[in-house]
Amino acid sequence: MTENDVGNEMEKRDMGNTGELMKIISERSSVRNYNSKKPVEDWKLRVILEAARLAPSSNNTQPWHYIIIKDKKMRDKLATAAPMGAASNKWLRHAPVLIVCCGRKNLLYHSAPGRLLDMDYFRMDVAISVEHIVLAARGLGLGTCWIGWFDERRVKRLLHVPSDYRVTLLLPVGYPKGKWPPQKEKKELNEFVYGERFGRSIDLPEMPE
Ligand SMILES: Cc1cc2nc3c(=O)[nH]c(=O)nc-3n(C[C@H](O)[C@H](O)[C@H](O)COP(=O)(O)O)c2cc1C
Repeated sequence: MTENDVGNEMEKRDMGNTGELMKIISERSSVRNYNSKKPVEDWKLRVILEAARLAPSSNNTQPWHYIIIKDKKMRDKLATAAPMGAASNKWLRHAPVLIVCCGRKNLLYHSAPGRLLDMDYFRMDVAISVEHIVLAARGLGLGTCWIGWFDERRVKRLLHVPSDYRVTLLLPVGYPKGKWPPQKEKKELNEFVYGERFGRSIDLPEMPE
Protein backbone atom coordinates (compact mmCIF):
# COMPACT_ATOMS: atom_id res chain seq x y z
CA MET A 1 0.00 0.00 0.00
CA THR A 2 1.50 3.37 -1.02
CA GLU A 3 1.16 6.52 0.97
CA ASN A 4 -1.42 7.68 -1.56
CA ASP A 5 -3.50 4.53 -1.00
CA VAL A 6 -3.46 5.21 2.73
CA GLY A 7 -4.72 8.72 1.99
CA ASN A 8 -7.50 7.31 -0.22
CA GLU A 9 -8.50 4.83 2.45
CA MET A 10 -8.89 7.70 4.88
CA GLU A 11 -10.82 9.74 2.32
CA LYS A 12 -13.29 6.87 2.02
CA ARG A 13 -13.92 7.23 5.74
CA ASP A 14 -13.99 3.49 6.11
CA MET A 15 -16.15 2.65 9.14
CA GLY A 16 -14.64 -0.83 9.53
CA ASN A 17 -16.48 -2.90 12.12
CA THR A 18 -17.93 0.27 13.62
CA GLY A 19 -20.30 0.31 10.64
CA GLU A 20 -21.84 -2.94 11.93
CA LEU A 21 -21.88 -1.64 15.47
CA MET A 22 -23.60 1.59 14.44
CA LYS A 23 -26.22 -0.44 12.58
CA ILE A 24 -26.95 -2.40 15.75
CA ILE A 25 -27.04 0.76 17.86
CA SER A 26 -29.33 2.58 15.45
CA GLU A 27 -31.73 -0.37 15.15
CA ARG A 28 -32.15 -0.85 18.89
CA SER A 29 -35.33 0.20 20.60
CA SER A 30 -36.94 -0.93 23.83
CA VAL A 31 -39.20 -3.95 23.32
CA ARG A 32 -42.27 -4.32 25.56
CA ASN A 33 -44.19 -6.88 23.57
CA TYR A 34 -42.58 -10.33 23.47
CA ASN A 35 -43.28 -13.57 21.69
CA SER A 36 -43.68 -15.82 24.73
CA LYS A 37 -43.79 -18.93 22.50
CA LYS A 38 -40.30 -18.42 21.08
CA PRO A 39 -37.57 -19.27 23.60
CA VAL A 40 -34.17 -17.64 23.63
CA GLU A 41 -31.48 -20.06 22.49
CA ASP A 42 -28.93 -20.86 25.21
CA TRP A 43 -26.03 -20.11 22.87
CA LYS A 44 -27.38 -16.60 22.39
CA LEU A 45 -27.67 -16.19 26.15
CA ARG A 46 -24.05 -17.27 26.41
CA VAL A 47 -23.00 -14.64 23.85
CA ILE A 48 -24.84 -11.76 25.47
CA LEU A 49 -23.52 -12.68 28.91
CA GLU A 50 -20.02 -12.86 27.48
CA ALA A 51 -20.55 -9.29 26.24
CA ALA A 52 -21.52 -8.36 29.82
CA ARG A 53 -18.40 -10.01 31.17
CA LEU A 54 -16.11 -7.93 28.99
CA ALA A 55 -17.45 -4.54 30.09
CA PRO A 56 -15.20 -1.89 31.64
CA SER A 57 -15.66 -1.05 35.31
CA SER A 58 -14.10 1.22 37.90
CA ASN A 59 -10.76 -0.32 38.88
CA ASN A 60 -11.92 -3.46 37.10
CA THR A 61 -14.14 -4.28 40.08
CA GLN A 62 -16.68 -6.08 37.84
CA PRO A 63 -19.34 -5.77 40.53
CA TRP A 64 -22.18 -7.27 38.45
CA HIS A 65 -24.03 -10.51 39.14
CA TYR A 66 -26.80 -11.75 36.86
CA ILE A 67 -29.66 -14.11 37.67
CA ILE A 68 -31.22 -15.71 34.59
CA ILE A 69 -34.90 -16.41 35.13
CA LYS A 70 -36.69 -18.71 32.72
CA ASP A 71 -39.19 -20.25 35.13
CA LYS A 72 -42.64 -19.01 34.19
CA LYS A 73 -43.96 -18.85 37.75
CA MET A 74 -41.02 -16.78 38.90
CA ARG A 75 -41.33 -14.47 35.89
CA ASP A 76 -44.96 -13.93 36.82
CA LYS A 77 -43.98 -13.05 40.37
CA LEU A 78 -41.24 -10.67 39.24
CA ALA A 79 -43.57 -9.01 36.75
CA THR A 80 -45.82 -8.03 39.62
CA ALA A 81 -42.99 -6.88 41.88
CA ALA A 82 -43.54 -3.29 40.87
CA PRO A 83 -43.82 -0.48 43.38
CA MET A 84 -47.22 1.06 43.99
CA GLY A 85 -49.26 -1.64 42.33
CA ALA A 86 -48.35 -4.21 39.74
CA ALA A 87 -49.94 -2.79 36.61
CA SER A 88 -46.97 -1.11 34.98
CA ASN A 89 -44.71 -4.15 34.64
CA LYS A 90 -47.25 -6.86 33.80
CA TRP A 91 -46.08 -7.15 30.20
CA LEU A 92 -42.74 -8.40 31.55
CA ARG A 93 -44.18 -11.87 32.11
CA HIS A 94 -44.28 -12.51 28.36
CA ALA A 95 -40.53 -12.23 27.93
CA PRO A 96 -39.15 -15.81 27.93
CA VAL A 97 -36.06 -14.70 29.85
CA LEU A 98 -35.72 -12.14 32.57
CA ILE A 99 -32.23 -11.13 33.61
CA VAL A 100 -32.11 -9.77 37.12
CA CYS A 101 -29.11 -7.46 37.26
CA CYS A 102 -27.47 -7.32 40.66
CA GLY A 103 -24.24 -5.98 42.02
CA ARG A 104 -22.15 -5.71 45.11
CA LYS A 105 -20.50 -2.47 46.06
CA ASN A 106 -16.78 -2.62 46.56
CA LEU A 107 -15.92 -0.67 49.68
CA LEU A 108 -12.57 0.57 48.41
CA TYR A 109 -13.48 1.45 44.84
CA HIS A 110 -17.18 2.23 45.01
CA SER A 111 -18.30 3.37 48.43
CA ALA A 112 -15.35 5.48 49.59
CA PRO A 113 -14.48 7.38 46.36
CA GLY A 114 -18.14 7.54 45.46
CA ARG A 115 -18.94 9.34 48.67
CA LEU A 116 -15.89 11.56 48.40
CA LEU A 117 -16.64 12.68 44.86
CA ASP A 118 -20.40 12.21 44.86
CA MET A 119 -20.16 9.68 42.04
CA ASP A 120 -22.06 6.42 41.72
CA TYR A 121 -19.34 4.27 40.17
CA PHE A 122 -21.16 1.14 41.26
CA ARG A 123 -24.31 1.84 39.27
CA MET A 124 -22.25 3.09 36.34
CA ASP A 125 -20.34 -0.20 36.28
CA VAL A 126 -23.45 -2.36 36.28
CA ALA A 127 -25.14 -0.10 33.72
CA ILE A 128 -22.28 -0.39 31.23
CA SER A 129 -22.32 -4.16 31.50
CA VAL A 130 -26.10 -4.20 31.00
CA GLU A 131 -25.83 -2.04 27.89
CA HIS A 132 -23.29 -4.52 26.48
CA ILE A 133 -26.02 -7.15 26.89
CA VAL A 134 -28.60 -4.90 25.25
CA LEU A 135 -26.49 -4.26 22.15
CA ALA A 136 -25.23 -7.82 21.82
CA ALA A 137 -28.84 -9.01 22.10
CA ARG A 138 -30.00 -6.63 19.37
CA GLY A 139 -27.28 -7.91 17.06
CA LEU A 140 -28.70 -11.40 17.55
CA GLY A 141 -32.26 -10.28 16.83
CA LEU A 142 -33.29 -10.23 20.48
CA GLY A 143 -35.24 -7.45 22.13
CA THR A 144 -34.63 -6.07 25.61
CA CYS A 145 -35.92 -3.23 27.77
CA TRP A 146 -34.23 -1.65 30.78
CA ILE A 147 -36.53 -1.82 33.79
CA GLY A 148 -35.70 0.41 36.71
CA TRP A 149 -39.21 0.52 38.15
CA PHE A 150 -39.44 -2.45 40.49
CA ASP A 151 -39.66 -3.22 44.16
CA GLU A 152 -36.11 -4.16 45.07
CA ARG A 153 -36.99 -5.63 48.45
CA ARG A 154 -39.53 -7.99 46.95
CA VAL A 155 -37.18 -9.04 44.15
CA LYS A 156 -34.38 -9.70 46.62
CA ARG A 157 -36.64 -11.76 48.81
CA LEU A 158 -37.99 -13.82 45.90
CA LEU A 159 -34.52 -14.66 44.60
CA HIS A 160 -32.58 -14.98 47.86
CA VAL A 161 -30.26 -12.12 46.98
CA PRO A 162 -27.91 -11.53 49.94
CA SER A 163 -28.51 -8.31 51.84
CA ASP A 164 -25.17 -6.73 50.89
CA TYR A 165 -26.04 -6.97 47.18
CA ARG A 166 -28.27 -4.57 45.28
CA VAL A 167 -30.66 -5.34 42.46
CA THR A 168 -30.16 -2.48 40.04
CA LEU A 169 -32.26 -3.44 37.01
CA LEU A 170 -34.49 -6.05 35.44
CA LEU A 171 -33.89 -6.86 31.80
CA PRO A 172 -36.44 -8.86 29.80
CA VAL A 173 -34.94 -10.67 26.81
CA GLY A 174 -36.82 -12.26 23.94
CA TYR A 175 -38.02 -12.04 20.38
CA PRO A 176 -40.44 -9.21 19.73
CA LYS A 177 -44.00 -10.13 18.92
CA GLY A 178 -44.81 -8.63 15.56
CA LYS A 179 -42.83 -5.70 14.25
CA TRP A 180 -39.79 -4.26 15.96
CA PRO A 181 -40.91 -1.08 17.77
CA PRO A 182 -39.89 2.08 15.90
CA GLN A 183 -36.93 4.10 17.10
CA LYS A 184 -37.91 6.88 19.46
CA GLU A 185 -37.07 10.42 18.50
CA LYS A 186 -33.61 11.38 19.74
CA LYS A 187 -32.03 14.78 20.21
CA GLU A 188 -29.79 16.21 17.51
CA LEU A 189 -26.07 16.42 18.28
CA ASN A 190 -26.16 20.20 18.42
CA GLU A 191 -28.51 19.97 21.40
CA PHE A 192 -25.95 18.26 23.61
CA VAL A 193 -22.47 18.32 22.07
CA TYR A 194 -20.27 21.35 22.53
CA GLY A 195 -16.80 22.42 21.45
CA GLU A 196 -14.18 23.62 23.89
CA ARG A 197 -16.64 24.89 26.48
CA PHE A 198 -20.18 24.22 27.63
CA GLY A 199 -22.80 25.63 25.30
CA ARG A 200 -20.47 26.51 22.40
CA SER A 201 -21.50 24.88 19.15
CA ILE A 202 -19.16 22.58 17.26
CA ASP A 203 -19.01 21.80 13.54
CA LEU A 204 -18.99 18.10 12.77
CA PRO A 205 -19.23 16.37 9.37
CA GLU A 206 -22.25 14.37 8.28
CA MET A 207 -22.30 10.70 9.26
CA PRO A 208 -20.47 8.62 6.64
CA GLU A 209 -22.69 6.35 4.51
C1 LIG B 1 -32.24 3.40 33.66
C2 LIG B 1 -33.45 3.08 32.84
C3 LIG B 1 -34.62 2.68 33.47
C4 LIG B 1 -35.75 2.35 32.71
N1 LIG B 1 -36.86 1.87 33.35
C5 LIG B 1 -37.94 1.51 32.61
C6 LIG B 1 -39.09 0.94 33.25
O1 LIG B 1 -39.14 0.76 34.46
N2 LIG B 1 -40.14 0.59 32.47
C7 LIG B 1 -40.12 0.73 31.10
O2 LIG B 1 -41.10 0.37 30.45
N3 LIG B 1 -39.04 1.26 30.46
C8 LIG B 1 -37.95 1.64 31.18
N4 LIG B 1 -36.84 2.14 30.56
C9 LIG B 1 -36.81 2.25 29.07
C10 LIG B 1 -36.96 3.70 28.62
O3 LIG B 1 -38.30 4.11 28.79
C11 LIG B 1 -36.53 3.81 27.13
O4 LIG B 1 -35.17 3.47 27.02
C12 LIG B 1 -36.73 5.22 26.61
O5 LIG B 1 -38.09 5.55 26.55
C13 LIG B 1 -36.14 5.39 25.21
O6 LIG B 1 -36.69 4.48 24.33
P1 LIG B 1 -35.78 3.48 23.51
O7 LIG B 1 -35.08 2.59 24.52
O8 LIG B 1 -36.70 2.69 22.64
O9 LIG B 1 -34.77 4.27 22.74
C14 LIG B 1 -35.70 2.47 31.29
C15 LIG B 1 -34.53 2.88 30.67
C16 LIG B 1 -33.41 3.16 31.43
C17 LIG B 1 -32.13 3.56 30.72
